[in-house]
Amino acid sequence: MTQTTRTLARALLDVDALGAEGIEEVLEEAGQMRGEDGRPVRSRELAGQIVANLFYEASTRTRVSFEIAARNLGAEVVNVQPSGSSITKGESLVDTVRTLESLGADAIVIRHSEAGAPYLVSRHFDGAVVNAGDGLHAHPTQALLDLLTMRDRFGELRGLRVAIVGDVSHSRVARSTTIGLVLLGAHVRLCGPRTLLPPDGWLEYLPRSERGGGAVQTTSLAEALEGAQVVMALRMQRERQTGGLLPGLREFVRDYGLDREKLSRLAPGAVVMHPGPVNEGVELAPELIVAKDSLIGRQVANGVFVRMAVLRMLLGGERG
Ligand code: NCD
Repeated sequence: MTQTTRTLARALLDVDALGAEGIEEVLEEAGQMRGEDGRPVRSRELAGQIVANLFYEASTRTRVSFEIAARNLGAEVVNVQPSGSSITKGESLVDTVRTLESLGADAIVIRHSEAGAPYLVSRHFDGAVVNAGDGLHAHPTQALLDLLTMRDRFGELRGLRVAIVGDVSHSRVARSTTIGLVLLGAHVRLCGPRTLLPPDGWLEYLPRSERGGGAVQTTSLAEALEGAQVVMALRMQRERQTGGLLPGLREFVRDYGLDREKLSRLAPGAVVMHPGPVNEGVELAPELIVAKDSLIGRQVANGVFVRMAVLRMLLGGERG
């Protein structure tokens, strides 16, 4: 059994536990889930297994992507919606998890507004657990699909220059994707207004990269974009902000909203990414979403391959 299959034996809670080689193994596996026509390779490998999507927070692409991924592998999917379930009667997370286990769920895919919720679930559930986003903390499958999308375009990620721009402090995607990029040897510049950047000290807690990767923070967009090969805009996460962090959106758009003119600082052949959903005209000018150099659609498509790989590795599908 390899390192990753051992790491992924029960849970995917964040990318740090995978390490560089573990991440590469998942990306490799995800690549195999993509047929020559670019569409998912469907199978019955997980027939008879039940994947429960337990989403306490709003989601379209992540939830649907997990559902499609599970179905592509022949698994059954149940979607538990907190409104309309016993959760509104005060059932605790642990009780809900025990109930799903008694009902025969083999895997729980959980999204929760509290950081750490998937870790709690993994201690009380006998099956597999996937973190689909926990509070401000982590979003490992998004990080993996971001990495796959960059690897598709640039090959090796060692030395790749990536700018991540916007509401960094409220973004679990920024955190998980930065960890993955650093582990694989990329150079990350995180950029936003001072009130939307976490304190610099968090960078010291990033895993050590054996491949020369690293991350810095800056409030200067010009500095972040200069020569970057990838720019990833982040959604302005208004629902997570406690208010008073910006004088107004207009100033943010002026200084950090990405448009063609600002992107002229990027390296030739650079690409634009965004985890979605996009606030059009806030962090990204509408024309950039569908532009030739935008990989936003590719990110969504790659989400299915990555989630197929993760479910397959967790639920023990036979290889080949
Ligand atoms: C992200 C999330 O929910 O953390 N979206 C996603 O999963 N595609 C980013 C966001 O909400 O801004």
